[in-house]
Amino acid sequence: MPVDPTALPRHVAIIMDGNGRWAQDKGLPRIEGHRRGANAVHEVVRTAREIGVKALTLYAFSAQNWLRPPEEVAMLMRLLREYVIAERAEIMDNAIRLVAIGDLDRLPGLVREPLELLVSDSAGNQAMTLCLALSYGGRESIVATSRALCEAVKRGELSPADVTEGCFQSAMQTADLPQLDLLIRTSGEVRLSNFLLWESAYAELYFTDTYWPEFGRDEFVRALESYRGRQRRFGRTGEQLRRLG
Ligand code: IPE
Ligand code: IPE
Ligand code: MG
Repeated sequence: MPVDPTALPRHVAIIMDGNGRWAQDKGLPRIEGHRRGANAVHEVVRTAREIGVKALTLYAFSAQNWLRPPEEVAMLMRLLREYVIAERAEIMDNAIRLVAIGDLDRLPGLVREPLELLVSDSAGNQAMTLCLALSYGGRESIVATSRALCEAVKRGELSPADVTEGCFQSAMQTADLPQLDLLIRTSGEVRLSNFLLWESAYAELYFTDTYWPEFGRDEFVRALESYRGRQRRFGRTGEQLRRLG
């Protein structure tokens, strides 16, 4: 189905949820759901790139996911490493720039090393930015930004009056991504789970019952179609927007 490029979100973010329940429903171990989830990532990245979305942020591991059983965390880390290594050619061949947000220092070297390498090797790519949220928390990222600004004030580089919304925005890890237009969550849960709290202030939200491993091209296009039908008012009235054209 063709998507009208004039009404395309520039930045889409996805809470990729439901891997465990997908596996449990099939009598499989949870990790099998995570493995299948990696295939869905491949398909959705490819689709976003083909359609012309400029930035795609994927919630792959939250700050709170460290609380999961150690064996599941270890398997997820191994899968992340495999993903970064296996997708290298796809990312480079399609001129995708890979970036990562979150508390990356907490990631084990087995993930951090191939990740940092691909982030640096893909830095000049310009077709699309793929942003992986890893060990990421929305509150944690707001706190980290606040702390960095306080330190700049303490060093005398910034005055408290300079701390405006724009200044705060440009100090966030997501500063160089376009404004978040569309936020998708799979699996039927209707919550943000600490994802992109600052960035989602005016994002359009799309929730689907589909478990992440079953999410693919068609459902991604359906989410974009739903976005196309929304009127984004940013506080104004519908009448004002019609007059502004
Ligand atoms: C999302 O699937 C993947 C991660 C959070 C890493 P879940 O593992 O949360 O799957 P459910 O929600 O238990 O089904
Ligand atoms: C959110 O899913 C995190 C990711 C998709 C990586 P969770 O499954 O961890 O969220 P909660 O705990 O159900 O809110
Ligand atoms: Mg979940």
